[in-house]
Amino acid sequence: MAANEAVMALREALGAQVVALPDEFGERRVADWSGMPGATPVAIIRPRTTDEAAQALAICSQYKQPVVTQGGLTGLVGGANLLGGEVALSLDRMNRIIEIDEVSATMTVEAGTPLQTVQEAASAAGFYFPLDLGARGSCSIGGNLATNAGGNRVIKYGMMRDQVLGVEAVLASGEIVGGLNKMIKNNSGYDLRHLLIGSEGTLAVITRVVLRLRPKPTATATAWCGLPDFAAVTTLLTRAQASLAPGVSAFEVMWAGYHDTVIANLKNLRAPLAEPHPFYVLLESVGTDPARHGEAFEEFLGGMLEAGVVSDAAIASSEAHARDFWAIRDAPGEYERFIPNYAAYDVSFSIAQVGDAAQQCEARLRARWPNAIVMTYGHLGDGNIHIVVDIPERGKQDHDDVDRVIYDVTREFEGSISAEHGIGTKKRDYLHLVRRAADIASMRAIKAALDPHGLLNPGKVF
Ligand code: LAC
Ligand code: ZN
Repeated sequence: MAANEAVMALREALGAQVVALPDEFGERRVADWSGMPGATPVAIIRPRTTDEAAQALAICSQYKQPVVTQGGLTGLVGGANLLGGEVALSLDRMNRIIEIDEVSATMTVEAGTPLQTVQEAASAAGFYFPLDLGARGSCSIGGNLATNAGGNRVIKYGMMRDQVLGVEAVLASGEIVGGLNKMIKNNSGYDLRHLLIGSEGTLAVITRVVLRLRPKPTATATAWCGLPDFAAVTTLLTRAQASLAPGVSAFEVMWAGYHDTVIANLKNLRAPLAEPHPFYVLLESVGTDPARHGEAFEEFLGGMLEAGVVSDAAIASSEAHARDFWAIRDAPGEYERFIPNYAAYDVSFSIAQVGDAAQQCEARLRARWPNAIVMTYGHLGDGNIHIVVDIPERGKQDHDDVDRVIYDVTREFEGSISAEHGIGTKKRDYLHLVRRAADIASMRAIKAALDPHGLLNPGKVF
């Protein structure tokens, strides 16, 4: 269709500063971290303001030109990749912190601001912005919202949805909706914010947001625990949540298969405990009483050791020591080095069922592929585990039969095929396994109401 006409109109209205053609944006990265194929955009639009974004979308709407919004391109499901013929709309120039309101405890930012910039600005102002994930340096706040990002501190602070008070966005038509609301309580009609969060760029383009800041913890205690079985892991979780005031800020579980494989393959990692254990937990608790926090944490762990819930534990003696523990949990960033053709899953179950579901997945995978490397780990406090499977002599894109095994178990346990990474195109064909037909029809109806010509991130989610 009129791709060239649309691009010419965009260029004329917004100028070469904002609208770049393929021979101008050259080698710029236009695909996400999923490794899935992505087409080259017919143009990249890089607005500097909400008004420019609105102007661009109004023109795209006029010419029925499809648009893929891009943030930091750190997604894992192909959600920001192009299928062919779209323009890319990058928010990378809208990367400013507009205001920190210390009384309301809010930070107003443009959507292209990197997560780490927000974390650092919050800290410099004496606050804490709790969302945290491995891609913090590259991912953007707008992308975190579009995917309702999770990560390592959800257990205490919630997902991205819980960190946001106001969302300003542009509809496909070019109309601006929402705004920079700072109120915690606001029940005046449908909350469009929550509709847009997690919609993966299919309903609107998020341009500016008001983030909620939290009090800065002044004490952190971190331990690496070895446990005898999964029942002990859930016991440690419930006891820690009941005993550690003001709360558990991370509870990352690793099955031995994960621990042993990453330690064996990555030279910079060392096992924190001398003996092997079937399960490991990275436990972190934050507080505001530096004098007593560490002591209470040690006392709690002492009790768990005595009760046999924990078989052995190492408490971090410094920030650097804690970072060594986290490096073991952050090893997924290095998979390319030893299992470049891996398939990765992002499933969730009720916490009580995580152990059985994971066991079923592993048993069925092993029955079919006895040589498979299976690594299971994740955010147990959120019921969210990652399962990584590497079948020797397999190509990168050829995982449909593995998908089927994992998603059959997911459906049987009434879990979710995506706890935090989203659907994109990677899991689109499996959505019906875990959502009712009427759910998907409702999603389509909402999509049709807000984006009647299907121009925003076409082909994603369903
Ligand atoms: C993790 C990311 C990839 O938890 O979700 O490692
Ligand atoms: Zn995760």
